[in-house]
Formats: sequence, C-alpha cells, structure tokens
Amino acid sequence: MVGGRGKCRLGVLVSGRGSNLQALIDACADPGFPATIAAVVSNRPDAGGLARAQAAGIATSVVDHKLYATREAFEAHLHAALEEAGVDLLCAAGFMRVLTASFIARWEGRFLNVHPSLLPSFPGLHPQQQALDAGVKVSGCTVHFVTAEVDAGPIVAQVAVPVLEGDTADTLAARILNSEHRLYPRAVRLVAEGRVRIEGARAHVDERP
Ligand code: GRF
Repeated sequence: MVGGRGKCRLGVLVSGRGSNLQALIDACADPGFPATIAAVVSNRPDAGGLARAQAAGIATSVVDHKLYATREAFEAHLHAALEEAGVDLLCAAGFMRVLTASFIARWEGRFLNVHPSLLPSFPGLHPQQQALDAGVKVSGCTVHFVTAEVDAGPIVAQVAVPVLEGDTADTLAARILNSEHRLYPRAVRLVAEGRVRIEGARAHVDERP
C-alpha cells in the first residue's frame, strides 16, 4: 500500500552488487520506516544483491532473461513474481534491463529508479564518465519514477555531489554512490508515506515534518 496505513511492500529489482538494495534493507530494519521489502528479484543468477537479501531473510527470485525467447515472456514472469509477493512499490536498484512500455505501464506511479547523475543531465549508460567528459563541477544522483523513456520520469529527490579535479569515473561513481545510499531510502519514505503526487512530468513532494 502506498500512502496507506500498513507498511508499503517493496519489490527491489537488482542485476549486480546491490549496495542500494543494502541501503533499503538497512532502512527497513528501522521499525519506524514505512516500508518493508517483500521480494528481491534479479535477472542475473550471480547478482551479489541476492546474497544480501538472503542474509537479511528476504525472499528472492531469479528471472533470468537469457531463459526467455522474448522480452514479453521475460516480463510476464517478472510481473508474476512481483504480484505473487504482493508488491506495492517497485524499486530498481542497479537493474540493467530495459523494460517495455507495457510492463512499465502496469507499474505506473509505483516504480522508482535511482540514477547516478542529476537528471535530466547524463541519462543512460556511463553517467559518471559523461559528467567528466562534459566538465561539470557538480553531478549527483536522482530518484525518479520510471516511465517508458529511459531515465526521464518525474523526479522525487536529488542530491548534488561535487566533481573534484583528478576524479576518474570510478572515484566519482564511489562518491555519488555514498549519496545514493542516503537518497534512495529518503525517496522511498516520501512515496510510501503518500507525500508524492505526480502531475504530468513533475512529482510534487510534501516535505513537511
Ligand atoms: C548505482 O550507481 C545506480 O545508481 C545505478 O547502478 C548502480 C547500482 O549499484 N543504476 P548497486 O548495485 O546498487 O551497488
């Protein structure tokens, strides 16, 4: 339930190491946090995020995209796993598959992503390298609702992170990742508490205490 009285049931999608998943696991360990992780689903059987979830006693499933002939068949299984777990709010956390517009439509307004740049700057792959190439002095991270256009949906929250002289894509990525770990739980809290209202391309956020 998003914005309701019970805890919001999160479904977290991972493809890799899962450090943002870990930040959500840690946040959910606080009894006052308005969400709980109902399921972690990976498209890769070797994703490090699966072990993190298992260590926290969270149900995991693998929907390996390589086992399905079509994107639609893969997504049907992904959707079924999330429905079965009773997921209210879907959170992509380093999930590296592009999803079809029809899958995304089924989760419209209930699907978040974290991206390591200040969107709309540097969408897509290698955003930290894109930031270095552009010579910006400030980059950051964004949590936004997922829409059919990649990295383009209504923005819930952002944090600015300085780009330092001598940064490589790796050092910048590490600095941004630290901020992601604080930002994602904060954004999930706002959505789970019903403080976020989407109007067209914008998400209006009620940050009152
Ligand atoms: C993060 O930088 C996230 O913003 C991007 O992919 C990375 C995933 O890292 N979408 P992790 O798997 O959460 O550690």
